[in-house]
Amino acid sequence: MEKKNSLRIKELLAQQEARPDVLVLGWVRTRRDSKGGFSFLEVNDGSCLKNLQIVVDHQLESFKESDKKLTTGCCVRVRGHLEKSQGKGQAMEVQATEVHVYGPADPEKYPLQKKFHSLEYLREISHLRPRTNTIGAVMRVRHRLSYAIHRFFNQRGFVYLQTPIITTSDCEGAGEMFQVTTLDLAKPPKVDGKIDYKQDFFGQRTGLTVSGQLEGEVYAMALSLIYTFGPTFRAENSNTSRHLAEFWMVEPEMAFYDLDDNMDLAEEFIHFLFKDVLDHCQEDLEFFNTRIDKKLLETLSQVVDHRFERIPYSEAIHLLEKSSENFVYSVEWGCNLQAEHERYLVEKVFKKPLMIYNYPESIKPFYMKTNEDGETVRAMDVLLPRLGEIIGGSQREDDYETLMQRIQAKELNPDEYWWYLDLRRFGSAPHSGFGLGFERLVQFVTGVENIRDVIPFPRTPKHAGF
Ligand code: 4AD
Ligand code: MG
Repeated sequence: MEKKNSLRIKELLAQQEARPDVLVLGWVRTRRDSKGGFSFLEVNDGSCLKNLQIVVDHQLESFKESDKKLTTGCCVRVRGHLEKSQGKGQAMEVQATEVHVYGPADPEKYPLQKKFHSLEYLREISHLRPRTNTIGAVMRVRHRLSYAIHRFFNQRGFVYLQTPIITTSDCEGAGEMFQVTTLDLAKPPKVDGKIDYKQDFFGQRTGLTVSGQLEGEVYAMALSLIYTFGPTFRAENSNTSRHLAEFWMVEPEMAFYDLDDNMDLAEEFIHFLFKDVLDHCQEDLEFFNTRIDKKLLETLSQVVDHRFERIPYSEAIHLLEKSSENFVYSVEWGCNLQAEHERYLVEKVFKKPLMIYNYPESIKPFYMKTNEDGETVRAMDVLLPRLGEIIGGSQREDDYETLMQRIQAKELNPDEYWWYLDLRRFGSAPHSGFGLGFERLVQFVTGVENIRDVIPFPRTPKHAGF
């Protein structure tokens, strides 16, 4: 098609001078007719938030053919002249010389009419919601963030590693794995009353990965610096605005990094990403700042301009215990911090991003490095205002004996971790890493409240449509 050399709407809108013979391809958002015999079409092609105004003279031969089909939602091809606009609200507009409708959208049936639609309603039409301002802007920011993630690591010599989606190991040990099987669920083969996985596709019980970390560690023990960025699955029945059953996680893993180095990298990473979107997604962020959260730009700039606070878990508990806040969940040393506790510390006590480190051994997975006190491990979480946890990570246990003890203490089967243990038998190195929830990042950067609205097709309990 001749579109190859044509400019997209973002570029057309940025032109300073008139241009003859331009081609516009996109979807009509609105149509307004004037008494003087003209139609004004607002056309969007997803390249930017703004629409391009097309002025169509009713005398055009092609208008007479397309008139009835030119309604909200239809897909058009327009030829015309790009000119400085006479009207308010836009610098450039196109005076059409030819209008063609590729695909009409029956106004009686098209669900996206020009009026306010709630994000909840839009989820029910996930196949059409990308055509709204909000979802379009979210997806452009999401794209920019993923591009920035690759740039950040590439600049620092990290290798992008694709870890498997189907796996036998439950990295986080929380039993939240979705099972993968080809066995007949109506009558699975059994021995001694138990399912015989030897007859399953892989000859053993498998599931969808909850984290690429363990496999990431394998490659960090050779390439030194790696990161994964891929889909991650958790069968946790959490119906919250921050949990998905399928989400994307970024997991760097670094040989020769201790917990402090790990925290430094996490902070640098977030600063880099926020700065990148502030520099490159201005139009979309301003839209979110007006429509979703009036403090968004201010919050993002503040995060970029300030160092994060760092406190050990014990101090976090101390601060919570002496606070006069009425928490739903009570606090004592050894407990898991709840969202309400994290938010209190971030929003009321420190009023900026916070890293909590050195958590009790008992509430963290087996792979984290034990501290000399024997009670805590070198774990760290990064917490952001309103959102709570965005990053979880740790220094890894690199001593064979200690790791073996922890595997046994957590009643895991060492045989299943033989290759992971081997890393500690052959050329073991101090190393660390973390995982950043990509959708939580997009949520924070856009101010969008529910995580289901920052991923193209959300998967949550009882929802896997589209
Ligand atoms: O804290 P988590 O469970 O850490 C790990 O999985 C480690 N293996 C990471 C590592 O050290 N390589 O998860 C990391 C992050 C969380 O901080 C959160 O941002 C995100 O992943 N996350 C989720 N995001 C959306 N929906 C869920 N159900 C999530 N569970 C975790
Ligand atoms: Mg965590």
